[in-house]
Amino acid sequence: MDMMNVTWNAAVDKVVILDQTKLPGRVEYVELATAEDVYQAIFKLKVRGAPAIGICAAFSMYVLALAMPQEEYGDFSREFSRTKEYIASSRPTAVNLRWALERMEKVVTAHPSSPIQEICKMLKEEADAIQREDIEMCRRIAQYGLSLVKDGDGILTHCNAGPLATSRYGTALGPVFLGKERGIDLKVFADETRPLLQGARLTSYELQKGGIDVTLICDNMASMVMKNGWVQACFVGCDRVAANGDTANKIGTSGVAILAHHYKIPFYVLGPSSTIDLDCPTGADIPIELRAPQEIKEQFYSQPMALPETKCYNPAFDVTDHSLITAIVTDRGIFRAPYTESLQKMRS
Ligand code: MRU
Repeated sequence: MDMMNVTWNAAVDKVVILDQTKLPGRVEYVELATAEDVYQAIFKLKVRGAPAIGICAAFSMYVLALAMPQEEYGDFSREFSRTKEYIASSRPTAVNLRWALERMEKVVTAHPSSPIQEICKMLKEEADAIQREDIEMCRRIAQYGLSLVKDGDGILTHCNAGPLATSRYGTALGPVFLGKERGIDLKVFADETRPLLQGARLTSYELQKGGIDVTLICDNMASMVMKNGWVQACFVGCDRVAANGDTANKIGTSGVAILAHHYKIPFYVLGPSSTIDLDCPTGADIPIELRAPQEIKEQFYSQPMALPETKCYNPAFDVTDHSLITAIVTDRGIFRAPYTESLQKMRS
């Protein structure tokens, strides 16, 4: 279950990621040596999932810091901030990326009189802490999530919020993996998740490998499996939760929530407290990443499926209105409406 999606190779001082664009066909690891490598790995979704990109960015900032000017603090910190902003611009929606980068930058700004080598050591410790905390947060989310379901229940999930997207258990898939350990069997329906197929390529892959009963469906089959009575709860991840509970997650998530509401199926968002952005008042304030038309028209097809001149709209995320969310399950507990109050209390 530990997918080793992001690791730091001590022998060469490089970040090593599992290239998720190659799954499920090939398990390939790539080294990230430059800021451009890191930007491209995140932008091209070689590493993806909100917590995983934060962890990757944190380790990368440490590795890149080793090659920054080591004599003058001013030169070092300017270069550090410039690189941090560049990497933060690779994907705008998941708040964990900026959150992790800002934690790393605080290490630099808090120690203006320390030798740079000392600061680099602290940066490594901070990156380790971010990863360690994510493992612990996922474990707690899994426990809280498991309390919401019972043996034999069917769970519908969208995109991938499992070990590949996080650390160890994952968030939305955490209760499923923890349930398996405890003899509580959950059956998962995985939306394939157009256009980049994270559900087909990653979720069904990691659940299958974990010995979980998983059934892959096309996104437009979710209504049918719900109508058939096969789904007792929806578990989805999140890229950013606004202060009022509105939640950005992979495109298509809000459609699942609307269906769940229609069929009276509880719809749960599971994510670490680091994904809750109290500085973002509502979903309308969440930046939504737009991606290339080629992902809709060509990617994964052996030949283009639309004319080159056909216009496409390809938002990578949508926002699920807080009114459709039964509860938000975090490492700090299960939060229910009114979210403006409950999420505020979570942070205090
Ligand atoms: O574009 P992706 O694959 O990075 O999108 C990922 C998702 O939407 C996940 O559901 C989200 O990041 C939560 S990961 C625990």
